[in-house]
Amino acid sequence: MNTFISKELYKSSQKAYFTSHLLKWNEQVNKRQMPWKGEKDPYKIWLSEIILQQTRVEQGWSYYEKFIKAFPNIQKLAKAEDEKVFKLWEGLGYYTRCKNLLATARKISAEYKGKFPEKYKEIVSLKGVGPYTAAAIASFAYNLPHAVVDGNVMRVLSRYYGIETPIDSTQGKKLFQQIASDGLPENKAGVYNQAIMDFGATVCKPQNPTCKECPMKKKCVAFIDEKVNVLPVKEKSIKKKERWFYFLVIQSGGKTYVRKRKGKDVWENLYEYVALEIPSEMDAATFIKSTVFKKSIGAGKFEVKNISKVYRQLLSHQTIYGRFITLNISKPLKHFTGYILADKKEIKQLPFPRLINNWHEDGHKNNILF
Ligand code: ADE
Repeated sequence: MNTFISKELYKSSQKAYFTSHLLKWNEQVNKRQMPWKGEKDPYKIWLSEIILQQTRVEQGWSYYEKFIKAFPNIQKLAKAEDEKVFKLWEGLGYYTRCKNLLATARKISAEYKGKFPEKYKEIVSLKGVGPYTAAAIASFAYNLPHAVVDGNVMRVLSRYYGIETPIDSTQGKKLFQQIASDGLPENKAGVYNQAIMDFGATVCKPQNPTCKECPMKKKCVAFIDEKVNVLPVKEKSIKKKERWFYFLVIQSGGKTYVRKRKGKDVWENLYEYVALEIPSEMDAATFIKSTVFKKSIGAGKFEVKNISKVYRQLLSHQTIYGRFITLNISKPLKHFTGYILADKKEIKQLPFPRLINNWHEDGHKNNILF
């Protein structure tokens, strides 16, 4: 058992569930196609991984194809003139990658007779190849049991196990490496590694993950505890000021109260619902009993229709958390200054902050009814 997390968080049944459901999802649902996927030639895998180190898949795709066409094997690349390789790399940026690419091709050509090394230790010692790239090459080409761990993998694991250890801390990196390694299925490291990358890119995405489609949601701690939007945690964002809001989406006669934000605070000139800032996190049941809530909606009858999950928006100096409470009121509110009553069509035309638009885009589907 590892030393970092409690047994409760990390039961072996939860781990087995994750691995088996991820593999099943990969076989039955995952449609992601990429030219290097399923590739067994270590040269081609290495090339793709170097390109993808600091480049998005969509951008790297055509570069990969150009390189494979110009240099179909490592000897061809090793013999190429520097200028030609740099020209082909143009537009990708981070040119150290290109320099290392050539140096490594030449080393393998000279010292390994052009045959790509097969041991993890040798692979990870190549210039430009770190633990992530080495694990990808070792597992895809040789099925060696090495887990890939990057931001995407840590996000998936942090949500599934509900781990709040910052992913950019030393402790977090160690912890996620250990969990990822523990989750590797026997003899299927390559398939598993590609599957978790694809899962992180298409389902468990940083913003607006599609939890409804997630085959692991029944055991995903973040999903169950409504923390999908707040995990993973980063140390840097911890230092930012945190603010908590409840947005009351107050409906009356088919219209909703909105107002334009004024002043020097965030979201200036954007629209919002009745926004109530609270000093720290508070659950919805407590909030509804609070005087700040009661004062805002007045003395008339009200009916809560919907309570959303927590949404998050990262700004440069602060992190804003917000929940939405949709409610009907029987009497129009007289004490609301600066608010207008807008219908659905009008609301669609108004500019809202990202956090509110994320809630709009979810179309209330992912939100929890009271
Ligand atoms: N990012 C890094 N390696 C990748 C791979 N093999 N597939 C998709 N994205 C990646």
